[in-house]
Amino acid sequence: MSSFRLPATYGSVAEFRDRLQEIEPSLDCTDLVESSASPLAASCEIDGHTLVNRWAVQPMEGWDGTEDGNPTEDTLRRWYRFGLSGAALVWGGEAYAVCPEGRANPNQLHQGSCDDPVAGLKLLMAELRRGQVEAGLAAEDSLVGLQLTHSGRWSCPTAAGPAPRTMFRHEFLDQKVGVDSDAAMFTDVELQALPALYAAAAEKAVAAGFDFVDIKCCHGYLLHECLAATTRPGPYGGSFENRTRLFREIVAAVREACPGLLIGVRLSVTDELDQGFGVQAGDKTADNLEEPFAFLSLLQEMGIRLVNQTLGSPYYCPHVQRPAAFAPSDGAPPTTDPLIAVAKHLLLARRCKQAFPEMLFVGTGYTYLQEYTAHVAEHEVGNQHVDFVGLGRMMLSYPDMPADHLAGKTFQRKKICRTFSDCTTGPRNGMRSGCYPLDPEYRQRPEAKQVRALRPAPPSRK
Ligand SMILES: Cc1cc2nc3c(=O)[nH]c(=O)nc-3n(C[C@H](O)[C@H](O)[C@H](O)COP(=O)(O)O)c2cc1C
Ligand code: SF4
Repeated sequence: MSSFRLPATYGSVAEFRDRLQEIEPSLDCTDLVESSASPLAASCEIDGHTLVNRWAVQPMEGWDGTEDGNPTEDTLRRWYRFGLSGAALVWGGEAYAVCPEGRANPNQLHQGSCDDPVAGLKLLMAELRRGQVEAGLAAEDSLVGLQLTHSGRWSCPTAAGPAPRTMFRHEFLDQKVGVDSDAAMFTDVELQALPALYAAAAEKAVAAGFDFVDIKCCHGYLLHECLAATTRPGPYGGSFENRTRLFREIVAAVREACPGLLIGVRLSVTDELDQGFGVQAGDKTADNLEEPFAFLSLLQEMGIRLVNQTLGSPYYCPHVQRPAAFAPSDGAPPTTDPLIAVAKHLLLARRCKQAFPEMLFVGTGYTYLQEYTAHVAEHEVGNQHVDFVGLGRMMLSYPDMPADHLAGKTFQRKKICRTFSDCTTGPRNGMRSGCYPLDPEYRQRPEAKQVRALRPAPPSRK
C-alpha cells in the first residue's frame, strides 16, 4: 500500500502548492482572493440566463426515493441543502431514471411507476428554492437541471438484485454484473423506444420548473456504454456515427417535445477500462482524446454548449471517478496519492476547455482537495481552465461551503468532507446514502455504526 499525506496535514497553502506542483508543475492554487474579487464570484451567461457565481452542485443519487419514484423527506432535505450552497448552477441534482427498469437502485427517483411524477419533481424544486432563498440566491440568478438516465448495465431496479441491460459483451464487465449470455443485451428495437422516454421525462422536468436537462453520458451507464460499443453490430454499434446514434435520437426527441429547452451533457471524458471510451487500445490507463473530442465537436454542432466533465465509473474505477483517501466497501484502498487522480480531472478539464473555448465546462474531482478546494478552484476558474467548479461529496457534508467562500468566511473545518466513502459504502450495503460521519442528522442514525464497521482498513499515512 502506498503512503501519502492527507490534505489536512499540509501546514500552509504554500506547502500544498508544492505538492501539487510536484505532481504536475502547471497546477497551482491561490491564497484565496478577497471574496468579492474571487474568480468564483464572477457571473457567467448561459443562453440568456446570468449565473451569479461559478460554483456548481454535482448530481448525487440518494437511494432514498419511494418505490414509485418520488422523493422522501431525506431526498427533500438533500435538495434543500443543495439550495443552501448558494451555488448558481445545480447540475441535475441526482440521476432521474427515464423508466422503472432503468433505475440503478430500487429507490432511485424515476418516471413510470406513479400517476403524477411531476408532483414529486415540483417538491424537489420547491425545497431547492427554499434553500436558495436562505442563501440569498434568487431563482433567476441560477440554473437548475435534472439529470436524465438509463442505468443500462448497472440497472438494479428491484430488491431482487441487478437486472443489467447491456450494449455489448465484455468479459470483465459481464462478470461484474453476472451476465453470461446475450440475453441481457438491448435489442435495436428496444433502443429505438428510449428517445420517447427521455422526451417524456424532459417534459416533466419543464413542467416542474427545471431550466435544463442533462442527457447523462457518464459513469458506465447506458449512454456512456453506447459510446464504447465498438464491437456491437448494427445501427447502434461499430462506427463513431453508429455509437452516437442513440444520443442524437434522444436529443432530437427531447427538442421536439420541449422546443428551446437547454440541454447539458455529463460526459466521462476518459475511462479506465479495456475498450473503454477515450482509452488507448491495449492500455486502459492511457487516455486517447480523439473520440472524446469528436464527441465534443458533435455536441457543438448540435448546439449543446454545457458539458460536465467527469471520468470513469464508480463501479470499476472509483479511485479515478471520485478520488478518496478511504475506499468504499467494494473498492480497494488507494495505491497512489489521490491528488494524482484529482490532477487528472483538472488537466482533462483544461484540455477540453482549451480545445473548445466556446463551450462551458463544469470541472469535477474537487472534494478531495478538502481545505484547499476553493484555493484550487479560484486558480482554475481565474485562468479560464474551466468555467464552473462542481462539488459532489462536499455538498453532503458541508453544503454551505460555496456560500461561506463567497461571503469570505473562514471554512468550517468540522464539516469538510474527509472522503471516508461512507456515502458509497451505505448504498452498496442496502442503506441510504448520506454523510454518516459528518452530517449530524445521519450521524445519529443506527446505520452510522454499521457503515463505519464496513469501512476497509485506512491507508497508511506519512
Ligand atoms: C453518493 C454519491 C452519489 C452519486 N450520484 C451521482 C449521480 O446520480 N449522477 C452523477 O452524474 N454522478 C453521481 N455521483 C458522482 C458525483 O457527482 C461526483 O462526480 C463525484 O462524487 C466526484 O466529485 P467530488 O470529488 O466533488 O465528490 C455520485 C457520487 C456520490 C458520492
Ligand atoms: S460520507 Fe461524508 S465525509 Fe465520507 S465521503 Fe461521503 S460526504 Fe465525504
